[in-house]
Amino acid sequence: MKDQQSTLRETMKRQGLTRDAFAEHLGVSRRALDSWLLPATSGEFRRMPGVVAKLVGGMPAGTEPRAAGELRLRFTRKGKPHLLSVDQFDRDTVEELLQVAEAMEPIARRRKVTRVLEGAVLANLFFEPSTRTRVSFGAAFCRLGGSVCDTTGFTFSSMVKGESIADTSRVVSGYVDAIVVRHPDKGSVAEFARHTHLPVINGGDGTGEHPTQALLDLYTIRREFERLGKTIDGATVAMVGDLRHGRTVHSLIRLLSLFKRINFRLVAPRSLEMPPELVEAAKAAGHKVVQVATLAEGLRDVDVLYATRIQKERMSGEALEAYPADFRIDRRVLGSLCRPDTVVMHPLPRDGTPGANDLSTDLDADPRLAIFRQTDNGIPVRMAIFAVLLGVEHLVARDLRDAPWIAPARLGPGDAPFHRLA
Ligand code: NCD
Repeated sequence: MKDQQSTLRETMKRQGLTRDAFAEHLGVSRRALDSWLLPATSGEFRRMPGVVAKLVGGMPAGTEPRAAGELRLRFTRKGKPHLLSVDQFDRDTVEELLQVAEAMEPIARRRKVTRVLEGAVLANLFFEPSTRTRVSFGAAFCRLGGSVCDTTGFTFSSMVKGESIADTSRVVSGYVDAIVVRHPDKGSVAEFARHTHLPVINGGDGTGEHPTQALLDLYTIRREFERLGKTIDGATVAMVGDLRHGRTVHSLIRLLSLFKRINFRLVAPRSLEMPPELVEAAKAAGHKVVQVATLAEGLRDVDVLYATRIQKERMSGEALEAYPADFRIDRRVLGSLCRPDTVVMHPLPRDGTPGANDLSTDLDADPRLAIFRQTDNGIPVRMAIFAVLLGVEHLVARDLRDAPWIAPARLGPGDAPFHRLA
């Protein structure tokens, strides 16, 4: 029979776990695990309890499935289960997170229900305007069985009375189990996270990052490409519009840079170009980056056209006036420059007023327009993020029941035939 030390060592290796992750998986302290891992001759050696030995004996022989909580430990720091930046991911962890999102699809599509987060409460703190991010975070948490408390705007929060981010963070931590924060200042969500051990998710920090949007964008690209028989490696992706202030593209260029040989076309007026450090980082990661100032130069033969809104609220008057009027993406532009299989995306909201310099509503019946598939994908992706950060992703498959109510097969009258709920 194998001794305790070799059994534990081999199991840990087979599962690809660090000592910390293994201890967390077994539900024991790191100190206890260390004492079980010592040679039997050592004075500090302890025999592991029978229940732990049983758990270790029952762990699968292959590398799959990974231990509960292990993915979280690979993209967060111990005791800091936050999602603040896409820089926390490598290609493996991002792919695994998207697999968890796939597993959430039956729930997101209203076929199944789960209660794995029953009793848990989310604080959704939005100090900047939001519709889809706030509602989809809330809906994702509810679809896992949890409940949501929302606050919107500074006006109705104690920050208007001068309360600091640190105090707000500590106070709210006493009430809930996870916190989503959107705030107009770059770096403010990281500051919020420094003052709590609860999971904090960045819902957009000024011109900084919007990591969950980039994750759902990546998920959308992957699903659209699966249908079209394409791979992300080697893809040509155009990002268009206000690349200087748009936090969604700041996160997306970083996240896509985890893949191989991406051809980035960055299409922006001179004053609104992508920050140079992000361009340099993409180039340093081996990608081709072309920066141009007109749609005609940037959109030919792209696999993905990712349009963005002018971030008026982050600009002064003159900068706004300097924005050229020919950044409107409509049927004519798509017809003359793009391919039949170009995927058209936008984080939304788009400016829907007639003649607006944004993604036009005349494309709404075009099946290439993926914007509502993209917003729908916010649910499984945000469910996956919560499930992983709260350590319940492995419980979901065991906890599924059929949804008893009737849901429509299609959500919107303009949805493409392949955009079905069923
Ligand atoms: C974006 C944001 O808030 O950064 N919206 C969103 O979350 N989908 C994009 C924008 O406001 O332009």
